[in-house]
Amino acid sequence: MKMTKKKLFSDELVQIGPESGYDNYIMAIESSCDETACAVVKNGREVIANVVASQIKTHAQFGGVIPEIAAREHMDSINIVVEEAFKLAYSAEGISPGDITAFAGTVGPGLVGCLLVGLNAAKTLALVYDKPFIGVNHLNAHLCANYIDTELKPPFIALLVSGGHTQIIDVKSYSEQTIIGETIDDAVGEAYDKVARLIGLPYPGGPKLDKMAQEGNPFAFKLPEAKVDDFDFSFSGLKTAVLRLVKSFDGKELPIKDICASFQECVSSTLVKKVKKALEKSGYDQVVIAGGVAANSEIRKKMFDLSAEGYKVFAPPMKYCTDNAAMVASCAYFNTNTFDDINVEVFSRVK
Ligand code: KG4
Ligand code: ZN
Repeated sequence: MKMTKKKLFSDELVQIGPESGYDNYIMAIESSCDETACAVVKNGREVIANVVASQIKTHAQFGGVIPEIAAREHMDSINIVVEEAFKLAYSAEGISPGDITAFAGTVGPGLVGCLLVGLNAAKTLALVYDKPFIGVNHLNAHLCANYIDTELKPPFIALLVSGGHTQIIDVKSYSEQTIIGETIDDAVGEAYDKVARLIGLPYPGGPKLDKMAQEGNPFAFKLPEAKVDDFDFSFSGLKTAVLRLVKSFDGKELPIKDICASFQECVSSTLVKKVKKALEKSGYDQVVIAGGVAANSEIRKKMFDLSAEGYKVFAPPMKYCTDNAAMVASCAYFNTNTFDDINVEVFSRVK
C-alpha cells in the first residue's frame, strides 16, 4: 500500500516510503529530553547527516535533567544542528533543502518545553519549503533505529528499554504493533539511574554503573527477581534490595563493582528470559533491542547470545541507541504510527 502525504500549501500529493519508487530524503528533528538532534536519512535506512548536541555536561552538575534549562539549551542549539545537517547533506549527496522529501519531528513522549522547540522547528521547515510534515512518536523512533543500515523487516519481537519505558512489543508490520508486556513500576533506565545514585555514582548513572559492572563479580550477591505476570516487569523491589544491601555494610567500604555486576546480572537475565518467552510464543525468528538502555553491555550480550538458538538478533550501534534524529527520520519513512497533521500537539506521556 503506497503512503501518500500532502504538501502544506498545495494539494500536491507526495509518495513516501518503501513503495514510493524513488529516493526519499527525510530531515528529522529530535528534542524530547537532553539532546538536540537533526538528521537526514535516505530511504529510511541510509544516514546522510546525523548531528547531535548533547547537554549531558550542563545537567551533570544537578544530578539529572532540569526541564527548564534543557528547553533553553534546545533553543540555543536548534538552528546550529539544523544548519549543520543541511551542510552535511549537501556535501554528502548534493541535497539542498528543496530536495528534502518531508520534514519530521518528535511529538512525544518527552519534556513538553523541550519537545516544543524541535517540533516547531520541524513544522516551520515544512512550511517554508512546502513539504509534507510528519510527527513521530519517540518510542517508535527508538524501535526504528534498528532499520538503519540493516535489512530488517517485520515481523519481530522488540525489547524497548529506556529511561522512561520498559516494554516487550510484537511488531507485526511497519505500522502494526502490540505491547505485550511492560513495567508495572520503574523503567529499566530509571532503575539503573536510581541505583547508581544510591551507591554514589555521578549522573548519568546508567552508563557508569554498566562500566563498573564489567569489572565486578555478577554472582557476588543474589538479588531478587520480581514475580510478575507473563511479560510484565517490576524493578522497584530490586532497587530496594540494593538499598538494603548497601545499608548492610553499615558505613564500611562498599564493594561497588560487585554490587553493580550483581544488579546488572539480575536485570539482564530477567529481561532476556521474558524476551525469549515472547519469541517462543510468537513463533518469530527475529528480535531487536532498542532505547537508551540498549547501549548496556550485558543486556546486549545476553540478547546476542540468543543467536546461538537460531534467532536473528538486531541492536542499533551505540550512537543510534541513545536519543538521535536519524531514528526519527527512519520512523517517518516507514510510517510507523506517525501523525500527518501540522497542528499535532506535543505530549509528555504515552497516550
Ligand atoms: O532512550 P534514552 O536515551 O532516553 C529516554 O528516552 O529515556 O535512555 C536514557 C536512559 C538513561 O536512564 C540512561 O541511564 C540509560 O538510558 N543508559 C544506560 C546505558 N546507557 C544509557 N543504562 C544502562 N547501561 C548503559 N550502558
Ligand atoms: Zn529516548
